[in-house]
Amino acid sequence: MPIRIVRQDITKMKADAIVNAANSSLLGGGGVDGAIHAAAGPELLAECRTLGGCKTGEAKITRGYRLPCKFVIHTVGPVWQGGKNGERSQLRSCYINSLALARKAGCETVAFPLISSGVYGYPKAEALSVAVDSAREFLDSDDSDMTVYIVIFDKAAYRIGEKLFKDIEEYIDDRYAEWHVNARSEMLRMPMAAENIHEADFTVCSPMPTKSFDKSSLTDAVSKLDESFSEMLLRKIDERGISDSQCYKKANIDRKLFSKIRSDKNYRPSKPTAIAFAVALELPLSETREMLEKAGFALSHSSKFDIIIEYFIEHGNYNIFEINEALFAFDQSLLGA
Ligand code: APR
Repeated sequence: MPIRIVRQDITKMKADAIVNAANSSLLGGGGVDGAIHAAAGPELLAECRTLGGCKTGEAKITRGYRLPCKFVIHTVGPVWQGGKNGERSQLRSCYINSLALARKAGCETVAFPLISSGVYGYPKAEALSVAVDSAREFLDSDDSDMTVYIVIFDKAAYRIGEKLFKDIEEYIDDRYAEWHVNARSEMLRMPMAAENIHEADFTVCSPMPTKSFDKSSLTDAVSKLDESFSEMLLRKIDERGISDSQCYKKANIDRKLFSKIRSDKNYRPSKPTAIAFAVALELPLSETREMLEKAGFALSHSSKFDIIIEYFIEHGNYNIFEINEALFAFDQSLLGA
């Protein structure tokens, strides 16, 4: 997944480079700046002293010293002043310039905090949206297989509206409860409920006579395989009139994985990958179920993750970012994460 959103302390990330939300002096501070300097040790500050500061929107690179990463890229985000002073474009530059430096240093993985969303007051949800959009813009223009981690340190970064949260909660309760009621009644309908089985009931019986199977009918059945997941995916891409890269980028799936799926018609993706493609293709629920089935999965009402995905598809909302906000709010793993 080229862009992954993770909940973590960035000083623990084993990425090739982590990005520091610094100030223009580059001489340390509080927040993530303070945490990075504390974890890297005094050598980091010593190297920062040689850099001569950094302008807002620009980025400079140092070694990682005692951190588990090779490099630290220091960038200075804009101070939020209401959004009408070019803050968005300056924040975008932080990401683009940091990624350009990372690529120049040969990094394959880069981890960002939510720049400017702490002391500098940038609203968290917008800061996250700029982070995702800028990373996607850079990765779209860049043919390197870099993976960008967006590291969320506190839940406040993902605040979905109260109404949306309540809607989804009711939707989950209706289906989750219904599933559990059905599952229990299913179990009670079993021919011999567990508590009725007694030792004496076990009689040794000869194995059931098996019907010798007719090889030709089995070969015939196997030859009539349905369309595979990969075949349906490629057919849907053609029907939508989009390119392969538009599809896998929207699904937040990396190029290597997509070419595996394209070249092997029997390729079995993971469930999150299959769902990410269904969302990227904006399939209705019936076709989403069909595509998942071809990968060997179903949307189950025993899983909050599945019910939330179903909620968004039923409401025609295929915005992976908003879906992730909801999944995050319900402590579920994220699409593309
Ligand atoms: N790991 C990941 N993210 C973190 C961590 C951490 N250990 N600590 C804080 N954060 C998050 C915050 O929750 C916030 O979402 O980093 C984001 C950026 O917050 P700040 O660190 O306050 O950075 P910023 O808003 O860009 O302000 C920069 O603050 O620390 C000073 O010297 C810095 O003057 C500069 C200003």
